[in-house]
Amino acid sequence: MAEIKKVGIIGAGMMGADIAISCALAGCEVFMKEISMDLAQAGHDRIAKDLKKWVSKGRIKTDDAGVEKALGLLIPTDSFDLFADVDIVIEAIFEDINVKAENYKELDKVCKPSCIIASNTSSISITKLASASFDSIERKANFVGMHFFSPAVIMKLVEVIKGEETSDETMAAASAFCKKISKEPVTVVDCVGFVVNRILYALNNEAIRLYEEGVCSIEDIDKACQLGLGHPVGPFALMDLTDNALNLNVGNILYEAYGDRFLPRPSMKKKVDAGHYGRKSGRGWHDYRK
Ligand SMILES: NC(=O)c1ccc[n+]([C@@H]2O[C@H](COP(=O)([O-])OP(=O)(O)OC[C@H]3O[C@@H](n4cnc5c(N)ncnc54)[C@H](O)[C@@H]3O)[C@@H](O)[C@H]2O)c1
Repeated sequence: MAEIKKVGIIGAGMMGADIAISCALAGCEVFMKEISMDLAQAGHDRIAKDLKKWVSKGRIKTDDAGVEKALGLLIPTDSFDLFADVDIVIEAIFEDINVKAENYKELDKVCKPSCIIASNTSSISITKLASASFDSIERKANFVGMHFFSPAVIMKLVEVIKGEETSDETMAAASAFCKKISKEPVTVVDCVGFVVNRILYALNNEAIRLYEEGVCSIEDIDKACQLGLGHPVGPFALMDLTDNALNLNVGNILYEAYGDRFLPRPSMKKKVDAGHYGRKSGRGWHDYRK
């Protein structure tokens, strides 16, 4: 497969804009599509600000010229017209199979046959997404999961997910592209939750259970995981960062797939009922209102 140079990103939200700038930092020309030009530009503005922050903190190694070059390569758009010639599309829009499938059907009309189409879905089966979206064997073979982690401009891991009909060539090209954009791929066979979320949700559930049993406080469980396991943040702080409503939703999906070992804990449901979603809402497992 030829080297990937032109990239299409769908969605300029939390994940899409970060993935887009990661590609631009590697020298790719990137078209970032949103539902309106205002949202596309807002994604560009947000990532410009974040990129400067990460560079000043030394978390991304480039200089002012590198930042300007990457931002210049990232083109916001509200149309698929510019996607005709891209080598890969990475979709990062709402976690809804119908919305995603609608977009893939549009891509099917516009993109060249060899284009790799990737989804950043956290929880939807890659095999199901492919069959809901494409008729042709070639499109299904070129469809793959590429699951990035937040903040995607910093986090190195990408789970590269092989759907039932994803070809070995597509897996190899998607993994090579991860390396090109300074990420590290791991190969995963399609399953609910993939690898990291299955491990993470098992850990989170056990942390909540320890708290519910009165074994340890939320603060001390976070401290124990940081100092005893070397985790950069504890499980409760991390759940507050990702949003407890989203956590509960993913927990329910894992429970449906794997049964009792992922049954969401009662106090997680209470947090969500109370609107204590985490940092975003000012309260979660921890209180951020001060
Ligand atoms: N947030 C995370 O930590 C995380 C991590 C890994 C994967 N994901 C996955 O990434 C995807 C996006 O998540 P997010 O957190 O960036 O969501 P987000 O809500 O921040 O961004 C989604 C964006 O998609 C845009 N969008 C919706 N429909 C569109 C369309 N038809 N065309 C173009 N843009 C459209 C929305 O306007 C919005 O800006 C989801 O599938 C999610 O499961 C999220």
